[in-house]
Amino acid sequence: MKAILLAGGIGSRLFPVTLGVSKQLLPVYDKPMVYYPLSVLMEAGIREVLLISTPHDLDQYKRLLGDGSKWGINLSYLKQEKPNGLAEAFILGESFIKNDSVCLVLGDNIFHGSNLSSHLKSAIIQTVELQKATVFGVKVNDPQRYGVISFDDKGNPNEIIEKPKYPKSDYAVAGLYFYPNSVIKIAKTIKPSNRGELEITSINQIYLNEKKLHLEKLGRGFTWLDTGTHESLLEASQFIQTIEKRQGIKVGCLEEVAYDNGWISKKTLIITAQSLGHTGYGEYLLNKYSEDEN
Ligand code: TTP
Repeated sequence: MKAILLAGGIGSRLFPVTLGVSKQLLPVYDKPMVYYPLSVLMEAGIREVLLISTPHDLDQYKRLLGDGSKWGINLSYLKQEKPNGLAEAFILGESFIKNDSVCLVLGDNIFHGSNLSSHLKSAIIQTVELQKATVFGVKVNDPQRYGVISFDDKGNPNEIIEKPKYPKSDYAVAGLYFYPNSVIKIAKTIKPSNRGELEITSINQIYLNEKKLHLEKLGRGFTWLDTGTHESLLEASQFIQTIEKRQGIKVGCLEEVAYDNGWISKKTLIITAQSLGHTGYGEYLLNKYSEDEN
């Protein structure tokens, strides 16, 4: 399984903040936003990741993340000339995906919950073994901002509508998707929507029509945040700060996930931690993993 991390777009809802810097490089409390979705991919066990961003932002991502080797992953990069929509990722990424299945994560989405790994495992089984696509449904207060799932009498999903004025449910589709290889072909068949974008919802609707869409509901105890507005960005920082301070854990800590997956040695982890100087992030790693040795 491969993965595409989408870190382009305009970030217009965050202007003027994003006039000079890519949204997904902004801090969410103590780390760059892009760490959070990247950590989800790593938690899913995916080591081949393609990051797609705008022509002018790509170099900064390369400077931040490099080739991924310090986390035991393989990172490559590709530019998207214009924000033509999420579904363009599969067309641009065709030669990266090759014959594999693929996960897509949005660079401005944060997922947190103790059962995340089991949800990810379930999605991978659906995709690899059953050749079904998986989307994650989350109950939200403001469904009209997202792709919204509606259900038939038996509670099975029967339609997904992008940003509906009058949502038929409060289940939004989160920015994390798993697809079998057929997604490349499907992405090439869809047409831009009224707002001129190749919509991921169009792809999901095709899988749904073919009865090949699995909905994984993220229930109570699970937090999904998107960080696209000034308010939601601040709230995300406050949320992460609260969890990290209160529980003494880190969310989206790439070195921790890489080490726990057995992808990097303790030596590599300690070198990275030391290079971060006297920061809460560096000290967390040093404290946690030097304790491990006792
Ligand atoms: P959006 O939040 O829909 O778009 P945006 O980030 O440009 O923000 P705004 O609406 O405020 O202008 O994008 C969701 C994510 O997908 C975000 O991480 C940016 C990324 N994206 C791309 O990489 N390419 C695209 O063509 C689009 C539409 C989004």
